[in-house]
Amino acid sequence: MTTTLSVIGVGYLGAVHAAAMAELGHDVIGLDIDAERISALQAGIPPFHEPGFEQILRRGLDSGRLRFTTDYADLAHAEVHFLGLGTPQRADGFGADLSHLDAAVASLAQVLPARGGAPTLVVGKSTVPAGTARVLAERLAPVEGADLLWNPEFLREGFAVQDTLDPDRLVYGVHEPETPAAERAVAMLDRVYARILEREAPRLVMGYEAAELVKASANAFLATKISFINAVSEMCEATGADVTDVARAIGMDDRIGSKFLRAGVGFGGGCLPKDIRAFMASAEQHGVGEALGFLREVDAVNERRRTRVVELAGEMLGDLTDRRITVLGAAFKPDSDDTRDSPALDVACRLRAAGAQVTVTDPQALDNAGRRLGGLVELEPDTDEALRGTELTVLLTEWDQYRELDPVRTASLVEAPRMIDGRNVLTPQVWREAGWEIRSLGRASTPNGPRPTAPGTEPAPARTGRIDAPAAPARNRLQPV
Ligand code: UGA
Repeated sequence: MTTTLSVIGVGYLGAVHAAAMAELGHDVIGLDIDAERISALQAGIPPFHEPGFEQILRRGLDSGRLRFTTDYADLAHAEVHFLGLGTPQRADGFGADLSHLDAAVASLAQVLPARGGAPTLVVGKSTVPAGTARVLAERLAPVEGADLLWNPEFLREGFAVQDTLDPDRLVYGVHEPETPAAERAVAMLDRVYARILEREAPRLVMGYEAAELVKASANAFLATKISFINAVSEMCEATGADVTDVARAIGMDDRIGSKFLRAGVGFGGGCLPKDIRAFMASAEQHGVGEALGFLREVDAVNERRRTRVVELAGEMLGDLTDRRITVLGAAFKPDSDDTRDSPALDVACRLRAAGAQVTVTDPQALDNAGRRLGGLVELEPDTDEALRGTELTVLLTEWDQYRELDPVRTASLVEAPRMIDGRNVLTPQVWREAGWEIRSLGRASTPNGPRPTAPGTEPAPARTGRIDAPAAPARNRLQPV
């Protein structure tokens, strides 16, 4: 059944959601205050790189079921309104900046009375601190017929269309589960998602705060998993172990699972970094800051991986002043042109700050990189050109074309065959055989050592535990490698 709906805020999440809803057969109008973005979308031009998005955008526009506007008055008759606004990190701290969301709800509240009290559902999709939905629901309470439901989005960039149309679960946060108002809201959203629900996607109904916390916890868990393996990387570097061996073996335990255990330069993007910080800030506000204090460490491990790449560059080149370094990748991950908090760009800036002449290449993200970095580093779209004459190559975004680089051919382009694999996607042995000096994060610099200095035979006293504890039997002690 067709529903007339709006999507307010057509950034990454909202634009994909709008086109996906049109794909499901609904009449959709997308709104944004950014007129340039709206003109591009209306002309079928995606404002970002996302596989499959352009096709559903154009299909929606051609069918007449998808339109875009900057005017709230055009939304007045929609039965369902999705809120897809960004909630970036506040300029003055860790918390989430909810100003776009607040402004959108205020504007929407002006046009909702045009429905004359007919049932209207406002659906929040943005990532927000626990408690936000309840506050927004109070603001909408005076509008007769309007309900608010919180339905967090779990899409991954690079898989956004697939994740929207075929999600692994749908979470519905309601004011008070099992009340008539909640059931009315759930039924309305079920109608919108009917074709998704037919595919048996699990649908979980819970209170507002639980739904908000599902999203925050999911991203915090993913970030923690990445930082966990990156912390293990530091141990691997200190002991001469290979983190990819450790990750493969622990990932085979079903309870741990192998996903998000790819050690490397760590997480970035518009979500994980700011979401863990907002989660910590929210915990502080609720008086339970200590509970999420470990996320500070998750953030710190992530940060240290970036520093480590610069250290490795120093170990390989000595003084970096005026040395030519090529960074492969600008996007925060492959199949995206998003450079928000990109580890690759951050490392490129740090190398530049250390005096190196840095060239960055990327198949999709150079425009965004240019906007972010200005003239700080050289941007070169052609991989061969970027590599020509370089003294050190640093792979920081694992695009297929970089994973598949031929070490022999690449060696013929560069000035010196030195590589830092910041994503552990190259086979060191193969590169070494082709004459490269290759260093990776969490892996010994050469196949069989040299190992770092072995720790002393006596283990350091535990920080907790009994002072008079008897010495552990020798076989249980840390042995020098
Ligand atoms: C993340 C979540 O995965 C989505 O579920 C969520 O909906 C989204 O944030 C959001 O809140 O909107 P996304 O930011 O697209 O999605 O990226 P991820 O695939 O989670 O990757 C994040 C970063 O972690 C990337 O920089 C990636 O390179 C890095 N990563 C990922 C690792 O370093 N190691 C891994 O094993 C996995």
